[in-house]
Amino acid sequence: MAEIEAASDRNSLERVSNAYLGRKGLLADHYGKLGSLEPSLRPKGGAKLNEIKKLLSELVEIRLSQFAAAAAPGPPFDFTLPGRRSYVGRRHPLLQTVDLIVSIFRGMGFSVASGPDIETSFYNFDALNTPENHPSRDLSDTFYIENGFLLRTHTSPVQIRTMQSQSPPVRIIAPGRCYRSDAPDASHSPVFYQCEGLYVDEHVTFGDLKGVVISFARQLFGSGVDVRFRPHFFPFTEPSAEYDFSCIICGGKGCRVCKNSGWLEISGAGMVDPEVFKAVGYDPEKYTGFAFGMGVDRIAMLRFGIGDIRHIYENDVRFLGQF
Ligand code: DAH
Repeated sequence: MAEIEAASDRNSLERVSNAYLGRKGLLADHYGKLGSLEPSLRPKGGAKLNEIKKLLSELVEIRLSQFAAAAAPGPPFDFTLPGRRSYVGRRHPLLQTVDLIVSIFRGMGFSVASGPDIETSFYNFDALNTPENHPSRDLSDTFYIENGFLLRTHTSPVQIRTMQSQSPPVRIIAPGRCYRSDAPDASHSPVFYQCEGLYVDEHVTFGDLKGVVISFARQLFGSGVDVRFRPHFFPFTEPSAEYDFSCIICGGKGCRVCKNSGWLEISGAGMVDPEVFKAVGYDPEKYTGFAFGMGVDRIAMLRFGIGDIRHIYENDVRFLGQF
């Protein structure tokens, strides 16, 4: 035992080990002598030798592992400590919702387009036929940054970028982050997600818009969902509308979530204004199109029963771990 303890490397340990435990070692020698013992003593002698062999073998193993630990970088490994748990990541509920929306529209032949979060007034407002004095341009609504740049207030500029870079037919959706100078509360966040849609071709009608929206609504929330369109105004569509889904919580009877109206406001939409086509060089006599822009956060909140939009952006793992 003392020799094992004193061995300073693998080679000297092997020498000691062979001398005692090896095929021609001291223990083998003693095993060989068992036969010369009086028969009644042989089992006891054998057991004693086994015990010694086991003890020495274990000591050799321990000494070996000490060499290994000393050779390894870092502190010695303490395998008596409790293990460190590894957490499994999850997709954020908002992005799960984006994925679902994308897969539904892909199924209807739309592809995904994107544009920058930092935009110019041209893409965010001018090309979208937004008048110079429109309130959405105000400092109180839009985050302006240096050199005329701004944080896009909606995903509609992706319509312009897409039409500039390709000719019709165009059939895209564009999910992404938007920014508005809003004070955060349960239903407002200065950063939020929209999903834009744009379909341009010859002979596209408001009926196509309704068909696509109804199909989307039912794939998203089930076949019982109804859709209604209300007249509205947007500078970049004519005619413009907002559409609502029948409340998925109460089925349209009226509840807290739909503020007793039975309807949930989902999106703005309309037929692309000829002025927008002119801004991107499309022939408004030849092409028509529909567009829509919906709030993704709202849809995620409805799907998962999230009561406050701020949860979506705080990234508290206790919240995120639930999805
Ligand atoms: N950009 C609008 C908003 O943020 C939403 C919208 C309305 C988008 C009508 C559209 C549209 O594409 O056709 O309020």
